Amino acid sequence: MKTISSGLALASLVGTSLAGAIYTLDECVRGEGFYDSFNFENITDPTHGRVTYVNRTTAECLNLTYATSDTFILRADDTTVLKVNDSGRNSVRIRSNQWYYEHVVVFDIQHMPEGCGTWPAIWETKESDWPASGEIDILEGANNVVPNQSTLHTSHNCSMPNNTLQSGSFITTNCDASVAYNAGCGVQLTEDKNSFGPNFNKNGGGWYAMERTLHYIRVWFWERDDPFVPYEIRSGAWIVNTDTWGIPAANFPNSTECDIQSHFGANNIIINLTFCGDWAGNAANYNASGCPLDCVTYVNDNPSAFTNAYFQISSMNIYK
Ligand SMILES: *[C@@H]1O[C@H](CO)[C@@H](O)[C@H](O)[C@H]1NC(C)=O
Ligand SMILES: *[C@@H]1O[C@H](CO)[C@@H](O)[C@H](O)[C@H]1NC(C)=O
Ligand SMILES: *[C@@H]1O[C@H](CO)[C@@H](O)[C@H](O)[C@H]1NC(C)=O
Ligand SMILES: *[C@@H]1O[C@H](CO)[C@@H](O)[C@H](O)[C@H]1NC(C)=O
Ligand SMILES: *[C@@H]1O[C@H](CO)[C@@H](O)[C@H](O)[C@H]1NC(C)=O
Ligand SMILES: *[C@@H]1O[C@H](CO)[C@@H](O)[C@H](O)[C@H]1NC(C)=O
Ligand SMILES: *[C@@H]1O[C@H](CO)[C@@H](O)[C@H](O)[C@H]1NC(C)=O
Ligand SMILES: *[C@@H]1O[C@H](CO)[C@@H](O)[C@H](O)[C@H]1NC(C)=O
Ligand SMILES: *[C@@H]1O[C@H](CO)[C@@H](O)[C@H](O)[C@H]1NC(C)=O
Ligand SMILES: *[C@@H]1O[C@H](CO)[C@@H](O)[C@H](O)[C@H]1NC(C)=O
Repeated sequence: MKTISSGLALASLVGTSLAGAIYTLDECVRGEGFYDSFNFENITDPTHGRVTYVNRTTAECLNLTYATSDTFILRADDTTVLKVNDSGRNSVRIRSNQWYYEHVVVFDIQHMPEGCGTWPAIWETKESDWPASGEIDILEGANNVVPNQSTLHTSHNCSMPNNTLQSGSFITTNCDASVAYNAGCGVQLTEDKNSFGPNFNKNGGGWYAMERTLHYIRVWFWERDDPFVPYEIRSGAWIVNTDTWGIPAANFPNSTECDIQSHFGANNIIINLTFCGDWAGNAANYNASGCPLDCVTYVNDNPSAFTNAYFQISSMNIYK
């Protein structure tokens, strides 16, 4: 890991009047650095997936994680036919060692898991007091298709107005995790066809960025060859100015309907890949996606269907 101390000299140059929009690089996690910055969570999937989250030793031994200086791969087993009573397909779930409050995070992603039954996610939360410290799902979806979205899940008394400046569209506006079976307030990334699944991968991926302040939480996506990707994103610059990033894909404002400060606390970053479970394996969702059989049978019997069930991430930059 290269933890780069945020340049005080640079910060003072830009002054304080633009504070909130200008950030300096605080942590640059690249390739092998993911091993230092994240812990392997060897736990039972709380969302009841058809998965076994292995520990680091096993992951490296089975090549379920693999890193070079500029790439980190996280994937599921794609060779084992599972018996009904096996515990689930081997996969990996990692959680950051650091805690984050107000920050910007930029992921440079080449590939995300695809395939029927897959449910990949990059998100932030504090697991031990969920949902008191909030949950921000930056990138999440299931079964390749529906719904590619960014979602907040919170404690009571947080909902979003459906008139925010964003390119995506709210499919639900109540963020309260106790409402509507924890649907959360979700924005579907409707504008860009290459932000998820097979299309994302064919296109060489792209960049997901999230900015969390006391005034709003915003998510942006730029596909790999987007001519409008800010140069500071493409180059992994020392300083970024989120005011120049254009209209976000998802925009969750602070308001009288949701006091962001009291609904979001210290969060970890989590990257996980599960199968089936509460979302992907829900029979109605699974069938609607056009996937064959039932989810668990499909995942048990077809290891080769998961050859492309992997994340390939170059870097994760944190700005503060
Ligand atoms: C932990 O990982 C090992 C393999 O590394 C696996 O056999 C075991 O089932 C996992 N434990 C849990 C709770 O998933
Ligand atoms: C990882 O899991 C394997 C298989 O269950 C076990 O043999 C090994 O001791 C575990 N390693 C750690 C560090 O927990
Ligand atoms: C592990 O995976 C990487 C990336 O897919 C691959 O290049 C490498 O050859 C694999 N190593 C083994 C021992 O299979
Ligand atoms: C699976 O486990 C159940 C309960 O322990 C047992 O009754 C059943 O025979 C097992 N099935 C197979 C195929 O091993
Ligand atoms: C990861 O786990 C969390 C809860 O533990 C869940 O909310 C999230 O949806 C899961 N996603 C995946 C892809 O496993
Ligand atoms: C929000 O507004 C958009 C555009 O008018 C509409 O398509 C969508 O259904 C609305 N969402 C909710 C949750 O009301
Ligand atoms: C996201 O899902 C919606 C609804 O299924 C779909 O119309 C849209 O094309 C999807 N976008 C991407 C990037 O896959
Ligand atoms: C809900 O939040 C608002 C501030 O956003 C606060 O004024 C109000 O008292 C809260 N209501 C409850 C029931 O907690
Ligand atoms: C968030 O909105 C509430 C309600 O308007 C307000 O009381 C609070 O001061 C706002 N928070 C910030 C940090 O501006
Ligand atoms: C989904 O499809 C499976 C297998 O084709 C079928 O058994 C099940 O009833 C369907 N469930 C729903 C909710 O449509």
